[in-house]
Amino acid sequence: MTIKKVGVLGCGLMGSGIAQVCAVSGYDVVVLEQDQKFLDKGFSGIEKSLAKFAEKGNLKEPVEAVRARLKGVTKPAELADCDIIIEAIIENVEEKKKMFAALDSIVKKDAIFSSNTSSISITEVAAATKRPDKFVGLHFFNPVPLMKLVEVVRTIATSSAAFDAAFDFGKSLGKVPVRTSDKTGFIVNRLLVPYLLDAIRAYEEGVGSIPDIDNAMKLGCGYPMGPFTLLDFVGLDTTYYITHVMFDEFRERRFASPSLLKRMVMAGWYGRKSGKGFYDYTDPNNPVENKF
Ligand code: CAA
Ligand code: NAD
Repeated sequence: MTIKKVGVLGCGLMGSGIAQVCAVSGYDVVVLEQDQKFLDKGFSGIEKSLAKFAEKGNLKEPVEAVRARLKGVTKPAELADCDIIIEAIIENVEEKKKMFAALDSIVKKDAIFSSNTSSISITEVAAATKRPDKFVGLHFFNPVPLMKLVEVVRTIATSSAAFDAAFDFGKSLGKVPVRTSDKTGFIVNRLLVPYLLDAIRAYEEGVGSIPDIDNAMKLGCGYPMGPFTLLDFVGLDTTYYITHVMFDEFRERRFASPSLLKRMVMAGWYGRKSGKGFYDYTDPNNPVENKF
């Protein structure tokens, strides 16, 4: 199957990055949001990121040419002729099912549907449509324009043709695709999420301060970001939703939300995107430890 036009659902942290990478790779992209204000926010992030790539001479064409392939919309009907849909709305299974059930009767029958979910079962979301054979997981990593990996998730119902097309599509974006099955968290989050939650528990138990734990993992293990910087970067709300799904699946403490994470989300501290998390981002270039 030939993919020319991509529909992206959600223009938040991930949707904006996915839309950008698809447009840079030559695809026409339509991005759906709930409201124009979310599109404006997402597109302003895309502009900044494209400007950085252009500044370094890492774009094959002028920014305007990439920008011309990107369209923001608020009506699902505008996605009717897309060849592939990549969903990146909030990590909530009911919202995802509702969205795909509605799009199933709008988007052309042979289009591939995919979800960028971090933890939700692809099989369950696919079952809300009449095309589970054309449904895969395409799990990108944050920040999408820089991270090379995409996990391509096959369910028991996914056809070989749809899986292969999604796998090749991932490659065409300049990403390195890996194959994985529809097990909660796939490869990366199965290993990463318990580590991040354990860092919060270590902090709660007084093992070290937030910057000391971050520095220890950066300098002691060579990680590009310490766990608290990464948690703030991923989003504490998203991480909290992920813990619900993973704990529900595995019933193991290592996947359960630490109480501090829950309270931070209840307080509206979502990390970098809300200006406050384990660090305070009043000056985004100079985050300061948020002491509890
Ligand atoms: N677009 C374009 N350029 C960008 C950019 C973006 N979105 N973000 C950063 N850059 C540029 C910066 O401007 C900088 O350029 P210069 O070297 O010219 O200054 C360069 O990239 C490097 O950035 P930084 O100096 O800010 O920081 P860094 O060297 O630490 O690299 C990073 C940034 C690649 C994000 C690195 O910190 C990293 O790999 N962090 C870990 C990210 C990670 O683990 N992601 C996975 C999260 S888990 C997930 O995504 C799955 C899930 O389901 C939750
Ligand atoms: P986000 O909160 O930054 O963005 C979600 C966007 O979806 C918001 O802009 C919201 O307005 C929009 N949205 C919600 N309901 C919608 C609807 N019905 N129609 C259209 N738009 C809608 O979240 P995010 O971090 O971009 O995460 C999105 C998805 O990607 C989640 O499933 C998450 O688990 C997954 N993911 C996140 C990361 C990460 O590091 N943050 C990494 C990989 C995967």
